[in-house]
Amino acid sequence: MAPRQREDQRMKLHSYLTPDGMFDYEKYKAVQEAGNRRKLHAHWVHRETIGFLSNWLRQNISPLRFGLCHGTRRGYEQSWMREQLGIEVIGTEISPTATEFPHTIQWDFHDTKPEWLESVDFIYSNSYDHSYDPEKCFTAWASCLRVGGVMLLEHTDQNSPKAVSELDPFGAERDELVALLNRIGGDHFGVREVIGTFPFTPAAHLKDLHFIIVEKRKRMDGR
Ligand SMILES: C[S@@+](CC[C@H](N)C(=O)[O-])C[C@H]1O[C@@H](n2cnc3c(N)ncnc32)[C@H](O)[C@@H]1O
Repeated sequence: MAPRQREDQRMKLHSYLTPDGMFDYEKYKAVQEAGNRRKLHAHWVHRETIGFLSNWLRQNISPLRFGLCHGTRRGYEQSWMREQLGIEVIGTEISPTATEFPHTIQWDFHDTKPEWLESVDFIYSNSYDHSYDPEKCFTAWASCLRVGGVMLLEHTDQNSPKAVSELDPFGAERDELVALLNRIGGDHFGVREVIGTFPFTPAAHLKDLHFIIVEKRKRMDGR
């Protein structure tokens, strides 16, 4: 119990509440859609980091057949991964603008599709800081991975508790996020490695860039 309390005290989660104190999902969606539309011209993901991750996947994960990217706005990550890996990769985006971008579905990444469960080879995201419930989010993502599949979670200084806002409700330092993932993963999933050294200079906005690689170790459907 004690370690969990320490983690929770240092991590930060903004709450979306109705006047009577209940979770306000409509407000969450409205805030995310407004932010998405405001920033629709821009992208955060960088081509070099996707090239690096694609190489890492080719060297470490086999077979590679299907990948998901979560919270993708203009959808560059899935387009570049499709190009580089030559496989099916799709992105989720909560905003209705999803339909404007190729290989993107309008979908809340806290939810799973039956056909994804226990079957996805990798999940990439730089958007988990938009989760209203990180435990629910990471558990849902892990439930989609096949055993041996991985989540590639991008972490920069913008994922720290200091960066939390109504639009970016979840913040954790890298070590806190690693501890959280290992705690909720139990026997089923856990952090395989943290990569912070790259054969390229990360773009200036990716300050203190690391990738937390989370591996699925045991099926989560009881089979
Ligand atoms: C920081 S932006 C990153 C966009 C893109 N990955 C990039 O690098 O340019 C986060 C995106 O996630 C979307 N998003 C927020 N909450 C989401 C959710 N629950 N499910 C799916 N997408 C979500 C937002 O609308 C926004 O477009």
